[in-house]
Amino acid sequence: MTKSGSAIKVLFVTTELAPFSKVGGLGDVAGSLPKALLQADVDVRVVTPAWPGVLERVAASGVKTSMAKSNVYAAYDWRIHSANVIKADVKGVTTYFLDAEDYSGDMYPHQLNFWTASPFAVFCMQALELKNAIDWEPDIYHCHDWTSAFLPCALAWHRHYRQVGGRSVMTLHNVAYQGIFEPSPFLEASGLEPWSFSQSTMEFYGQVNLLKGGIVSATAVTTVSPTYANEIQTYESTRELSGILSQQRGKLRGILNGLDTKFWNSEKDKQLPARFTSKDFKGKVTCRKALLQKAGFDQETQDPIIVCVSRLAEQKGFDMVMNGIDEIVKMGAKIMILGSGQDWIENGLNAAVAKYPNSVKFFRGYDEPLSHLLYAGGDMFLMPSVFEPCGLSQMISMRYGTVPVVREVGGLRDTVFDVDDPNGRKNGFTFQTCDTEGMLWALRRAVERYKTNPDQWREIMVEGMSEDFTWDKSAELYKQMYEEMLQ
Ligand code: ADP
Ligand code: GLC
Repeated sequence: MTKSGSAIKVLFVTTELAPFSKVGGLGDVAGSLPKALLQADVDVRVVTPAWPGVLERVAASGVKTSMAKSNVYAAYDWRIHSANVIKADVKGVTTYFLDAEDYSGDMYPHQLNFWTASPFAVFCMQALELKNAIDWEPDIYHCHDWTSAFLPCALAWHRHYRQVGGRSVMTLHNVAYQGIFEPSPFLEASGLEPWSFSQSTMEFYGQVNLLKGGIVSATAVTTVSPTYANEIQTYESTRELSGILSQQRGKLRGILNGLDTKFWNSEKDKQLPARFTSKDFKGKVTCRKALLQKAGFDQETQDPIIVCVSRLAEQKGFDMVMNGIDEIVKMGAKIMILGSGQDWIENGLNAAVAKYPNSVKFFRGYDEPLSHLLYAGGDMFLMPSVFEPCGLSQMISMRYGTVPVVREVGGLRDTVFDVDDPNGRKNGFTFQTCDTEGMLWALRRAVERYKTNPDQWREIMVEGMSEDFTWDKSAELYKQMYEEMLQ
């Protein structure tokens, strides 16, 4: 509540929104946390760019839309950038899609420079202008990652917006992406005051660093798990940015992500060939067979199926998977990977398939329905991340009785607990050292347990399925933070 007793008004400013524009977990969070905040009596709304295809997906989903009373306008690079504001009720969450020329290119640029970074600055300014196009003004702007980090910077340092003022939250979903590019002509074109570009603001080794600017200028900073909140303050984790993060730790907190547990639900999931509960796994057996068939493997095999659903990026530890592939096959396991991303990983996985066509399957691409089949049809979910701010995949896999095998890092450490640890919740297998041997040590234990102790395996599956991965607790923590910000 605000001091006057009305609900706190929060605008989520996000460049991804599941199910309309999702690249990774940020899309899931933006698509599910607002619903939980509404339940907690926060008056939250969402603004997001209408990237190519988004409005078509909105229409196809049957969501009703209407036009706001006017466009939004932002002054940037010596011209006015206008966007149509399309209002939609997405499962109870009022959402504004900004439709403009600025958002007609690829969602995320391969190379960052003034021109490719500009849509993100324009988006933030249009988000600040939104209150003029609708009858609603936020108390707090809640921004996510470098792609909306320009907003707190504008509130602090922009010639016009710093006069207007406002409070903001900067949530760090992944500090590895910071929005770094040449300062010229950005500094002149953005309308920021010259002093916004200094060592204590957004300057970073001669470059602009939008995320650093967002961290310094936001009223509060959060990240997506308690462990990651500690890790990012160390040089080992975030290198040159660690100084700023530890300097700002007074306003930094780690709030664990949740899931849309209505969507990721083995009992109701319509994208699966069969559904199941923790009391009756017949449906999981059907999913397992369907997955084996899809991969072109023998449907009756008793070998454990290790699955991965992931962006193929260095962060996710696929070098360990590729280096360990001979040993994984020797263990008598099948491994199936769904993902797309960096060429060297895709090539390495293709080479593994060529070597072991009966044990390794690589589904290249982004495929939501297939991801459900992997989560449900697999026996183990492998996630040997080098770093992991939170990670949703390990939680999703547990919802489907697929046992996670993960490295003890970031949010993985906060959600997966080793079955051989006497004091844990016993829902998976974990390892510490970031190398192939460490990963194989955990996998060997998992495969051996699967093959020799079906009763214990079932207990581990049931434990994972009974975990509370709803947003309820975390939504309360966000609400508390919003309340503190308005005091
Ligand atoms: P990150 O955000 O770092 O990519 P998370 O584990 O937080 O990792 O979230 C990843 C989300 O993206 C999950 O919902 C996962 O199922 C989904 N995902 C990743 N790769 C694919 C893919 N190739 N096809 C379908 N869904 C994918
Ligand atoms: C990022 C992180 C991931 C996290 C997600 C949602 O993409 O890599 O660990 O779960 O954001 O917060």
